[in-house]
Amino acid sequence: MTPDTYVVDQSHRISVGGIRLDALAEKYGTPLYVLDQTTIVNRIRQYQEALNELTPAGQAFYAGKAFICQAMAGLLEHQGMGLDVVSGGELYTALTAGFDPSRIMFHGNVKTREEIAYALNAKVGHMVCDSLEELNRIEQEASRLDCQAPILLRITPGIEAHTHEFIRTGQFDSKFGFALTQGIADQAVLRALELPHIALKGFHAHIGSQIFDEDPFIRNAEILLNYSIQWYQEQGWWPEVLNIGGGFGVRYQSQDVAPRLAAVVGAIRSMVDRLTPNGLVPPRIFMEPGRSIIAEAGVTVYQVMVKKEVPGGKWYVAVDGGMGDNIRPALYQARYQAAIDGKADEPGTETVTVAGRYCETGDVLIKDIALPPVSIDDLLVVFDTGAYNYAMASNYNRVPRPAVVLVADGRDELWVARETYQDMVHGDKPWTGMR
Ligand code: LLP
Repeated sequence: MTPDTYVVDQSHRISVGGIRLDALAEKYGTPLYVLDQTTIVNRIRQYQEALNELTPAGQAFYAGKAFICQAMAGLLEHQGMGLDVVSGGELYTALTAGFDPSRIMFHGNVKTREEIAYALNAKVGHMVCDSLEELNRIEQEASRLDCQAPILLRITPGIEAHTHEFIRTGQFDSKFGFALTQGIADQAVLRALELPHIALKGFHAHIGSQIFDEDPFIRNAEILLNYSIQWYQEQGWWPEVLNIGGGFGVRYQSQDVAPRLAAVVGAIRSMVDRLTPNGLVPPRIFMEPGRSIIAEAGVTVYQVMVKKEVPGGKWYVAVDGGMGDNIRPALYQARYQAAIDGKADEPGTETVTVAGRYCETGDVLIKDIALPPVSIDDLLVVFDTGAYNYAMASNYNRVPRPAVVLVADGRDELWVARETYQDMVHGDKPWTGMR
């Protein structure tokens, strides 16, 4: 809900990481993404501790799609995390930040030949293969580069997890992976086992994002394990790795109850111990958390610019950001909590709709939220914006993207500079008169 270091002082001012948000707004301007290092590190350690309970020890790969920049890659490297990347751009970000390629998992349902070659040349630890075309492409590129590609096959396990349909991925009707039905996955396994430059290391399945139930995660691991046992019995092949993806839900609302990581990993541990055939080493369990590492670490600070009553008596509060820095309400009807700096913890006495500055009626950040009386120039602080906000930000209306600032122990550090108008025209070429 709020960063671990969130504090409201006697004047109802908010601090994160030991720094007041009004001071950060003054220094860096608004809108501003603020990330709390303590929260990030605490969440990373929870995953590492839970997965270290397994034998052999598991490994967490932070899903960079939730939020990545070079400094974040540096922090992850320092913490010994793995990293899941889904594009040449994310891979480049990680490698140029000095991230150890052996702890990189290269994902994505479409990888170009250039991206495949880039990943193989960089010697990433694993590639997750999503289709037969891609399997052939990886084989060809690995053959050309005279290496073996360590791959996991992405399986769609047929799990319909309860979450927004746009972020559900485990069901058979999905663009991702090989369905575990009608022999589709079987065909991929057989092909992977016969290709000379493919080293099949195991399976991957990700059932979706923002999932609160614990059972689907355990069920997912069980399905991958049982499928592995089938291959062991048929072909004598046994996986080194089972990657059960990410998707742990995060508390955006006070009534949300996040799944218990230790309980899920504990259940997987006893299942793996029980089901692994005698004499075999249990597969290493990999997880790919994105949101549950970074969402709660982040807040976005906006300035209130407009307050207006519309016919019918409803009030709109418009801020200096919106769908360009947080597309999630418009895309998934995501709901956020917020506070007014200087009035935090005061009772919500007026119901307003917080709108953005973009030229869309749908540019609403929070519909009908009860806040203390809002005044022009107030700082509005939206919580849980660390995941999929900056990462999905756009330059719609040619509005520059906000800066990202890290805070820790009373210090702040610029992680991503605010874009400028010059950045907006960076790739533009002048009109030449050509008709
Ligand atoms: N692994 C794979 C293969 C994934 O596709 C994803 C997320 C993750 C891991 C990380 O999932 P997480 O732990 O963050 O839930 N833009 C959407 C979320 C899309 C998730 C895409 N895949 C949103 O803003 O809700």
